[in-house]
Amino acid sequence: MSRAYRVSFIEGDGIGPEIFASARSVLETISECHPNLNFDFIPTPAGDATLAKSGEALPRDSFIKISESDLCLKAPVGETARETIIKIRQDLDLFANIRPARNYDFIESKFSNVDLVIVRENTEDLYVGREFEEEDGRRATALKVTTEKASKRIAKMAFDTALSRAKTAPQKSPAVVCVQKSNVLPMTDGLFMKSCGSIAEGYPSVKYSTMYVDTAAMNLVRNPESFDVIVTSNVYGDILSDEASQIVGGLGVAGSANIGNEFALFEPVHGCAPDIAGKGIANPLSMIFAAKMMLEWLGMKRNDLNCISAAKLVDQAVSAVGGDRILTPDIGGNSSTLVVTKAICKNIKESKDGGEENYDYRGKNRMSAKNEATVTTTNKQDVLLKW
Ligand code: NAI
Repeated sequence: MSRAYRVSFIEGDGIGPEIFASARSVLETISECHPNLNFDFIPTPAGDATLAKSGEALPRDSFIKISESDLCLKAPVGETARETIIKIRQDLDLFANIRPARNYDFIESKFSNVDLVIVRENTEDLYVGREFEEEDGRRATALKVTTEKASKRIAKMAFDTALSRAKTAPQKSPAVVCVQKSNVLPMTDGLFMKSCGSIAEGYPSVKYSTMYVDTAAMNLVRNPESFDVIVTSNVYGDILSDEASQIVGGLGVAGSANIGNEFALFEPVHGCAPDIAGKGIANPLSMIFAAKMMLEWLGMKRNDLNCISAAKLVDQAVSAVGGDRILTPDIGGNSSTLVVTKAICKNIKESKDGGEENYDYRGKNRMSAKNEATVTTTNKQDVLLKW
């Protein structure tokens, strides 16, 4: 069955347009190889440049087009992050921010067995943006909001993620650690922890523990291999995910997904990196990995195994190109954004798996053995992912 997914996109600021172009090239190359998988790209301007041009960081027309599309692929914006990405997350109720960090063969790291995912609550906490000034700006207060409903649903997402990861990688024992600071914030973080604990009772096969955020920050650089799934609130998740990405290669390889019940937005973890904008050296892998997560989510949500195969193909191409040391400077190479992107696209085109015969047109039975290593299907509605 031929499908054209409507991909709204934000090119963003700084390095945003450079790395978005890379991810788009990769997706277009996939479409070229596979006529049954197409993407309609719908421009939805937002960010600092859009604010300067139109007076609004997220024009209403962009927001409507985003909410009417199948999903959004977003490059980083600059100082308008609060008016753009945080607004989209809250208004479209994209409650789960999934941020994986795992070792790559082609990136040197002090650690070798890191494979963790941070499941960050995405709609509450200090990010609700309720700040107040008093005493003529000499005193400022921000509200930290935690609800049982949001805490329970993010906990459920974390436990489901742990189970799904364990099913697709049987050597892994599923484990969820709830990261908070309930000793200092017994009401807000206490509620978060209590809510996670109550969800844990429904998942007896998942090892559950709790950890204070300062200890988690330390353990991430001491023994990151010990983590499987970290569930945490908005601000802690934001900070810990930058730290986790650095352990496996840095922000240049960190993609993420913002997931709601029916809609999702995919973006790099990092910001618009103004210090390297326009130099042609931005690492496109963060944006390409965000696009890969988009393919995986589509595969799962629409039960479209073509998307899952395509995601696997992207992974293989990145590994092959990385293995040839075609890398940007941030991860030890000397290639440009464009050279890395072209090499990945070339690899996809030339890959045997890029041929139509290895895509699954008719259903799960034609999945290749390689793909089954990361994706399993138990029935038509149940495509399991290992984020
Ligand atoms: P940043 O994440 O943009 O950059 C931090 C460091 O990582 C810089 O040295 C940068 O060069 C490097 N870096 C980031 N991405 C890279 C890539 N793909 N390749 C190679 N190196 C990379 O953080 P910073 O400088 O604090 O923020 C810059 C702007 O981004 C700010 O205006 C901030 O508000 C915005 N921002 C936007 C986000 C979003 O759109 N979701 C998220 C975080 C920040």
